[in-house]
Amino acid sequence: MSELFQPITFASGLTLKNRLVVAPMTTYSSQPNGVISPDELPYIRRRAEAGYGSFITSACCVHPSGWAFQGQWQCSSDEFLDSLASVADAIHAGGSKAILQIHHGGRQCPPELVNGTPVSASAIPNARPNSAVPRALEEDEILEIIEAFAQATIRAKQTGYDGVQIHGANTYLLQQFVSPHSNRREDSWGQDCLKFPLAVTDAVLNAVPGYSVGYRFSPEEPETPGIRITDTIALVNALCDRPLDNLDISLRDFRQPSLHESFEGSTLSKILEVINDRLPLIAVGSVKSREDAEAVLSTGAELVAVARVAISEPEWPQKIQSGETIRTKVVAKNMREVLTLPNGLATKIEQVPGWFEVEESED
Ligand SMILES: Cc1cc2nc3c(=O)[nH]c(=O)nc-3n(C[C@H](O)[C@H](O)[C@H](O)COP(=O)(O)O)c2cc1C
Repeated sequence: MSELFQPITFASGLTLKNRLVVAPMTTYSSQPNGVISPDELPYIRRRAEAGYGSFITSACCVHPSGWAFQGQWQCSSDEFLDSLASVADAIHAGGSKAILQIHHGGRQCPPELVNGTPVSASAIPNARPNSAVPRALEEDEILEIIEAFAQATIRAKQTGYDGVQIHGANTYLLQQFVSPHSNRREDSWGQDCLKFPLAVTDAVLNAVPGYSVGYRFSPEEPETPGIRITDTIALVNALCDRPLDNLDISLRDFRQPSLHESFEGSTLSKILEVINDRLPLIAVGSVKSREDAEAVLSTGAELVAVARVAISEPEWPQKIQSGETIRTKVVAKNMREVLTLPNGLATKIEQVPGWFEVEESED
């Protein structure tokens, strides 16, 4: 049997039935109060039923100052316990393990969602045009956000999740502390740019001892100054010293070379070399076919995650196993019904050109 369909047991004792993971995907569909909406549950359940070993949820906001998208769901207080449980139940009903992705958006939050001013490590806006200038967090606010990640972990455990994934990737708050672009602080949170993400990690690990905790990171940033591979090596080494279950490297394409450096081979291979079997790695990025998934495992990564193809081909694990054709483009006609998509997600797919390939209907 292909390694793709072999179980894996993490250090916490959590066992996944295979190596296929639904990558975290924001649905833009939750209710304005941060509660999951009913049309998200069939979308989740259909993917969980398709045979993935684990399903990582969309980014779930741990603190009101970190609300990053219209339609993002929340785990920032006990009023969200029923909402959280409904997603864990939908994933379990489909037969996957449920991992809650815990998140704070930092300077990426739209001002209107966070009382007018986003927060970050320093008052430096994102390099994209028209980005809001954030406010640098005070020390007591930093400690409050760390505690919010811990409380979110306790809620995840209470509501039936098998584990959490700390969202340290894709330019959000944890990454903003690691990055020399966004962290220009002169206090200890700036002198040691790993202090905040590691404090979050330790707080999460201590919140529920023995729980399954993973950490997602982005290995490089395009801007200068910005995160380089050497920064990521330091982060990965520090994470490998902790009792985590896995790391998850966020890449656009699992084959991609470094954005800035000229070493041989892919960024994924470089990071695997640094990890050196200390923790299992989930890799993601433009995986479409069974061949792609096997190519990921042949690099030495233990797990392979898919995002866009889990949307365009809801039964992807079954189809790669049976050898059926994989639909890699989303259908334009009746997308919501055919692919069982919540409205906010389908609308976003339609509005952002080039993000998803679209299969036009013939009539
Ligand atoms: C609709 C959509 C929403 C996403 N939301 C999240 C998210 O909430 N958290 C996260 O870490 N990554 C998020 N991502 C990134 C994916 O997890 C993944 O890393 C990226 O899409 C590359 O994988 P793919 O080539 O299989 O699509 C999102 C991607 C998509 C397509």
